[in-house]
Parts: sequence; C-alpha cells; structure tokens
Amino acid sequence: MANSKHELIERSVTLLIVATLLVVSVGGLVEIVPLFFQHSTTKPIDRQGNPLDVKPYDALRLTGRDIYIREGCYNCHSQMIRPFRAETERYGHYSVAGEYIYDRPFQWGSKRTGPDLHRVGGRYSDTWHIAHLRNPRDVVPESNMPAFPWLDRPISQRDINAIQGKMKALRTLGHPYTDEEIAQAPAMLEGKTEMEALVAYLQGLGRALSNFQ
Ligand code: HEC
Repeated sequence: MANSKHELIERSVTLLIVATLLVVSVGGLVEIVPLFFQHSTTKPIDRQGNPLDVKPYDALRLTGRDIYIREGCYNCHSQMIRPFRAETERYGHYSVAGEYIYDRPFQWGSKRTGPDLHRVGGRYSDTWHIAHLRNPRDVVPESNMPAFPWLDRPISQRDINAIQGKMKALRTLGHPYTDEEIAQAPAMLEGKTEMEALVAYLQGLGRALSNFQ
C-alpha cells in the first residue's frame, strides 16, 4: 500500500510539484519565523543575552552610510565576520545579529576584493582614512582600491534637507530617535564634508562588541 502511494507521487509530476512545494514551505517557515521572535536577532544583545552598545546612527554617520552605499564600497567590502578562526584572528570577534538592528539595509556585501570592514572602527586614525580615501596608494602602496577624491566636497544642501525625513522614516521602523536629535540633525551636517561623514561612519563600525572581545 505504502509503495503504491509513493509510486503515485513519483509518477504524477503535478502531485510531485505540489508535495515538494508543501514540504519546502513548511521547512522554510520553521527556519524563518522564529527569527522574528528571537531576541538575539531583534534586540541589541549578543548570544549570551548581554546588551550590546548599539545606537542608531546619528545624523552625520547616517549620511556617511548613505555615501558608502552611493559610492559602491559594498561591492568590494563585506561587513560580516564569519565565526571561523581565520576570520576572527584577522578581523576580531565574529559578527552577531544584534549588531545590525539599525542597519537598513545591512551592508553584509557578497564579495571581498578588499578586507571586511565590520570592525574597522578605531583601527586607523581619521587622518589615515582621509589620506586613504583621497588616494589609497599614498598609504598602502600595493593597493588597488579606487581613489575617492571628490568626497572632499561639502555635504549637499539636498542631503541636508533630506536628513530629517530619513530619520523620521527610520523612527517609524523602530529606531529610537528623539525629537531633539531630529531637530538638530541639519545643523550637525552644516559645514561638514562628505569625507567627514564617511569617516565618522567608518570609525563607528563594529564597536558594539568591543567589551566582549
Ligand atoms: C574596487 C574595489 C574597492 C572599492 C570599490 C573600495 N575599496 Fe576599500 N579596499 C579595497 C582593497 C583592495 C583594499 C586593501 C588595500 C588598501 O588598504 O587600500 C581596501 C582597503 C580599505 C580599507 C582599509 C581596511 C583595513 O582593514 O585595512 C578601508 C577603510 C576601505 N577600503 C574603505 C573603503 C570605502 C569607504 C570605500 C567606498 C568609498 C571603498 N573602500 C571602496 C578595495 C576597494
């Protein structure tokens, strides 16, 4: 009896497709649904439940992050340290889910032409980053990273005008910005260059776990 049922499914393509879809969707749901309820993926905590020092990006860093995306840095740099010895020896503590809760979208990347940047914050001075972004060869002679000299221009008025809207939109998604932070955001960007915003973003990367290293 059992055999003939099996035969029936294997011989009927439609039935096989329907049964496969059913199995795959149940399996998928079982894997995905818990992630929405698991605290280590929805709250800034590590796997042991210790709080992480993750804060939403301030106006300058948020602008820097948008410049990082605009310039396509993610095409060559990942922000995701895997839990393997070769990675943790080079980059530091592996990345944990709670570190990304204010990253929309996250910048995991999928290719490493250059090194992972998830823990680059504090590794170099601001002056090093500025020299490196203006011309990477000045500080790393063998580098094949492109130069980004135009970042020395001021943050555009358009971006300054947009910052409050961006922060309000993120607040509706759960980023805890106060009214005061939103009110002061444009003033924080006045007179700053895109380079300063990008470097502020880079210097803040991956520092949340530093207490646990
Ligand atoms: C075409 C690929 C490419 C792109 C695009 C690129 N990089 Fe790089 N990046 C590299 C390579 C290769 C290195 C390693 C050599 C060096 O340090 O210059 C590197 C190194 C770095 C480092 C030093 C990391 C470390 O741990 O030593 C930083 C910081 C960095 N890049 C930031 C950026 C930023 C910010 C952008 C976007 C504005 C960017 N990169 C775009 C290829 C790239």
